Amino acid sequence: MADNRPIGVFDSGVGGLTVFREIMNKMPDEKVVYFGDTARVPYGDRDPMQVVDFSRQIVRFLRTRDVKAVVIACNTATAPSLPYLRAENDIPVIGVIRPGAKGAVTASRSGKIGIIATAGTIKSGQYPKEIHEMSPEAEVFGKACPKFVPLIEAGKLHGPETGEVVHEYIEELKENGIDALVMGCTHYPLLYDLLHEECGDGITLVNPAEETVKELREVLAERGELAEPSADGRLPEHEYYCSGDPASFKAFAAKVLPQEVSEVGVIDIEKY
Ligand code: DGL
Repeated sequence: MADNRPIGVFDSGVGGLTVFREIMNKMPDEKVVYFGDTARVPYGDRDPMQVVDFSRQIVRFLRTRDVKAVVIACNTATAPSLPYLRAENDIPVIGVIRPGAKGAVTASRSGKIGIIATAGTIKSGQYPKEIHEMSPEAEVFGKACPKFVPLIEAGKLHGPETGEVVHEYIEELKENGIDALVMGCTHYPLLYDLLHEECGDGITLVNPAEETVKELREVLAERGELAEPSADGRLPEHEYYCSGDPASFKAFAAKVLPQEVSEVGVIDIEKY
């Protein structure tokens, strides 16, 4: 059995493209419909129930594109929305936090794990909860990094300004003796170079996207819903949507994705 309907992937902005990139690399036959809520980014300081409402609107939109599954490619949205979206939809909904926790437990030898994320994700307490379910002895150190998302959305992925902010946030975590650091916001893997430079080789940077895509594959395989390669060997044509300025979304996506982004549709998401 095969199912060539697309997978819906969403984030508050461009961060979820790091999850999309992982899907493209590991599951190249799958078509993706991506939505970035660029008019309402960042979600990090918003009230959790408002984030649930935004997520519901986005899933309603994605379902108009006949998606077979939804990936919440946003930690801040996963934390409050996952149980609601799962209860309200008859297709699989996959979040990034449990997979990220699994990646951290696998990567850490000392059991001292750092989490960098938005204020919303840190406040939700979801990462420590999931990590302790898998590894009760682990020590988890969370740090909210509210300055990262605006810098990333502005395209400042390198350079001294962002480097100083990275140093400010990571220094304290290093003092706790962590050996694994979860990039607990899907925007943060875009700062990989600066984070790696700051952390050095003794700290493994964990990207939740890797485990998330493994879970996605397993769920679709169990349901007999993996896509079949096209007969002519062509890769699927993905669809891109955002709620804000399509030109800046396109320029950003072109930097992050290995494939050309031909068209970006603008969606009035409040209508959904
Ligand atoms: N990329 C999102 C996350 O994974 C959220 C960024 C934001 O909107 O604050 O947490």
